Amino acid sequence: MGGKVITVLSTKGGVGKSTLARFIAITANEIGKKVCIIDTCQNSSIATGFLRDRDSFSKNAYDWLIGEAKPSEVINQYEDTSIYYIPSDERIDDFEEWVDRKIPKPRQLEVLKTKIEPLKKIFDYIVIDTHPSENSDIVNYSIAASEFCVIPLEIDLDAKLAASRCVEIIRDYQNAGYQIDYGIVWNKVEITKGKAKAQLDKIKEELISKGIPPEKFIGDIRYSTTVSTSKNDGIMLNSVNNKYTQNVMNDIRNVSQKIFAQIGEVFSYG
Ligand SMILES: Nc1ncnc2c1ncn2[C@@H]1O[C@H](COP(=O)(O)OP(=O)(O)OP(=O)(O)O)[C@@H](O)[C@H]1O
Ligand SMILES: [Mg+2]
Repeated sequence: MGGKVITVLSTKGGVGKSTLARFIAITANEIGKKVCIIDTCQNSSIATGFLRDRDSFSKNAYDWLIGEAKPSEVINQYEDTSIYYIPSDERIDDFEEWVDRKIPKPRQLEVLKTKIEPLKKIFDYIVIDTHPSENSDIVNYSIAASEFCVIPLEIDLDAKLAASRCVEIIRDYQNAGYQIDYGIVWNKVEITKGKAKAQLDKIKEELISKGIPPEKFIGDIRYSTTVSTSKNDGIMLNSVNNKYTQNVMNDIRNVSQKIFAQIGEVFSYG
């Protein structure tokens, strides 16, 4: 058994990967689970998302991945919560080259899975935040290490293509025997606007007609400026006493609940 690994990915930038990774951790904390986010993106949005300057860490994901730091040297706790994270910086982009030089070809794809294995004894969930690139090996290492992939999707044609591409990539892994499931999450949805709803339905229909089963759409998260300003207001939205913010938090709770339930299923049947 042990911890389950969730990767948040999209080949499109700005769809909400880092935000969703952070909120999955916040909801896990709410239900008493211990969670660690691994940031594999050079932007290091996870650290800033938890109100830390990305340059304030002496060691980070890269040092850990290349074996020059112990997990305890790179895992940071957010305040007194059960949320932990491994920050990143631009050196993460050198990791693929390091793998090419140091790891034999047949073991390269599972390089992250192997690193994460000991963390599964400590954490209930391990969430990987990725960067928006299709040709990135580190995204492949993340998928290969995961039980579940979350694909945030905006009402936007580029995001539609990206979601469709991500599903194709995940299916390649499933066909190769990896036990991975996935879910698509609509993000930044303006539910009060009829036009946006019609566009969402149209994109969803197109994706379904391309073979993505309707049940893979695991929830909608509405657009809220509170999400983008939460870094300044304090990140635990559950303590913000405002109805719209509470609705956004509930959207996120619904999505997280589905994800957590799905990984449970994969395990009980696998
Ligand atoms: N539901 C939401 N409502 C309002 N703003 C949001 C929402 N989700 C994300 N955002 C904002 O959208 C921007 C992009 O989000 P985020 O950084 O999570 O995307 P990303 O996919 O990680 O981007 P990148 O590809 O650059 O890593 C951020 O400013 C974030 O605050
Ligand atoms: Mg990001």
